[in-house]
Amino acid sequence: MKPTPLLAAIALLSTTSHAKTWLLPIPQSVEWTGYQLQLDPDFHIEGASNLYVHEAAQRYHKLITKERWIPYQKNITEITPLKNRQDTLKTLQISVEDAHAKLDFGINEAYNLTIPDSGGKATLDAATWVGALRGLETFSQLIIEDEGTLVAHSSKIQDEPTYPHRGIMLDTSRNFYSVESILRTLDAMSYNKLNVFHWHITDSQSWPLHLEMHPELAQKGAYSPSQIYTTADMRRIVQHAQSRGIRVIPEIDMPSHTASIAESHPHLVACVNKDWEVYGAEPAPGALDPTKNETYALIEDIVSELADIFPDSFFHAGGDEVNSHCWADDETIGPYMKEHGLTTDQLWAQFEDKVGSIVEQNHKRAMIWEDAIVVAKADLSKNVAVQVWTTTPENIIKLGHDIIHSSSDYFYLDCGGGGWVQNDQRYISPDQKATPGDTFNYGGTGGSWCAPYKTWQRIYSFDMTKGIKKQSGHGQVLGGEVALWSEQSDETVLDAKLWPRSSAAAEIFWSGSYDKSGKRRVLSEVWPRMNDWRFRLLKRGIGAIPIVPQWCLSAGTSCLI
Ligand SMILES: *[C@@H]1O[C@H](CO)[C@@H](O)[C@H](O)[C@H]1NC(C)=O
Ligand SMILES: *[C@@H]1O[C@H](CO)[C@@H](O)[C@H](O)[C@H]1NC(C)=O
Ligand SMILES: *[C@@H]1O[C@H](CO)[C@@H](O)[C@H](O)[C@H]1NC(C)=O
Repeated sequence: MKPTPLLAAIALLSTTSHAKTWLLPIPQSVEWTGYQLQLDPDFHIEGASNLYVHEAAQRYHKLITKERWIPYQKNITEITPLKNRQDTLKTLQISVEDAHAKLDFGINEAYNLTIPDSGGKATLDAATWVGALRGLETFSQLIIEDEGTLVAHSSKIQDEPTYPHRGIMLDTSRNFYSVESILRTLDAMSYNKLNVFHWHITDSQSWPLHLEMHPELAQKGAYSPSQIYTTADMRRIVQHAQSRGIRVIPEIDMPSHTASIAESHPHLVACVNKDWEVYGAEPAPGALDPTKNETYALIEDIVSELADIFPDSFFHAGGDEVNSHCWADDETIGPYMKEHGLTTDQLWAQFEDKVGSIVEQNHKRAMIWEDAIVVAKADLSKNVAVQVWTTTPENIIKLGHDIIHSSSDYFYLDCGGGGWVQNDQRYISPDQKATPGDTFNYGGTGGSWCAPYKTWQRIYSFDMTKGIKKQSGHGQVLGGEVALWSEQSDETVLDAKLWPRSSAAAEIFWSGSYDKSGKRRVLSEVWPRMNDWRFRLLKRGIGAIPIVPQWCLSAGTSCLI
């Protein structure tokens, strides 16, 4: 229904206390015009340049009309009332420079989005089809319901990610996740402009990965026949991710964290079934035998099969937590080490070098955990990207490796869940302990090695640039990842563990820890956006957990210190 000229004139003059829309992650540059426009009943999106943009345009059109987002926080002092315009927004015109760019590390995700205050046509100009997807997400966040009608908040946005690698790591070995729960996670990632699904597929506890070349690995190593990812499952996940502009990087953790391989290849894994407190970081210990050619033949088969299923140019080869007794106490590896005068670290470094070559032969760039470099002092190709979880990032950068931030002090989403080793007496009531009255750790970590729980505020306060000197070539910060280790998680708690905490990470990965003027991003700016975003994720079917009592949403700034 078109407003009559008289009504339109009144609408033009009236200022109303409409809610402001909230954007997350915040674009690099946003200019608000102060107007909002009704979305035309025939509103449509034009200019889809390839199949993925076409599908995304349809998806977002449906989302916008279904979501009808009414912002929760209406009484925040910074909100300037928006003026209504009689004009409606009729189209969003997309134009893409490169519609066929390969989705891979460093793909250009920049876009400009303009919703003019005169209505008519909004424009989304993107460098690539992935940039168009990012712009469509932002466009959806600019649409809200106001007094029963959908309105678009007029603005001029210029945006691009600060870091090319923005990920979530999910461990599907300690506990299994259905394909559906992974697909839902990919959707949630796309709402947050996260673009890397780092899939820690296997570990010591189970091998849920079917391989055509080695079906025995999953047959013997999975928890059950229904807890196995088939080749079709993996292709479905890769395809779904691709359509959302998300890369999938598979990880096979090795040489440690491989007891599940012993189920089918017992002669290739050392220290299985030994006392985990001596031989591993947790039950169940086990490390591949680095002295056997057969070990490398198996690794070659695994890497080459996965290289075909996962088109991304990165492959994660694990490489963390080799135990100093596991190999040395083995009845064949121990004597081998003595004969060749090798320490565990030296043997480990050799292993990493060989695995690095296998990854390279399969035309992939290796990514590994920091341990091989920090602990084993492996001198690896500078092309190897290093995921940092405990060390000072600049130590790795100095060596000329690119890094991915995953500090366990900020980005480990499993922390603070308490101990899970079931008869652990150390964290229970002092009067129940073997030595009554012993208060060891009673008020401490509660058995979580990386306690406390990482709140969204803590995640947000990580400085992506701290101690990093700008230099050319390798030795760059590629980005960051939050990590969900799954000893105490499976799909029943997946959304709650990930959201909205991963949104806090998503913003510092996309928008950076500092804005364009060099000002540090701070909690006092982001909190109303986080509060709103939690509910918006909920409306989009993601079980994001509450971060404040609902009371705070209408209490203005009363919930701030
Ligand atoms: C966005 O606009 C700026 C300024 O006009 C321009 O330099 C840039 O190339 C544009 N980016 C895209 C992706 O169109
Ligand atoms: C293992 O491979 C190396 C290098 O290819 C070779 O020199 C060695 O003879 C092989 N050992 C066995 C037992 O096959
Ligand atoms: C908004 O909050 C302030 C205090 O923060 C309060 O004085 C005012 O009445 C509130 N307005 C509405 C419309 O709720």
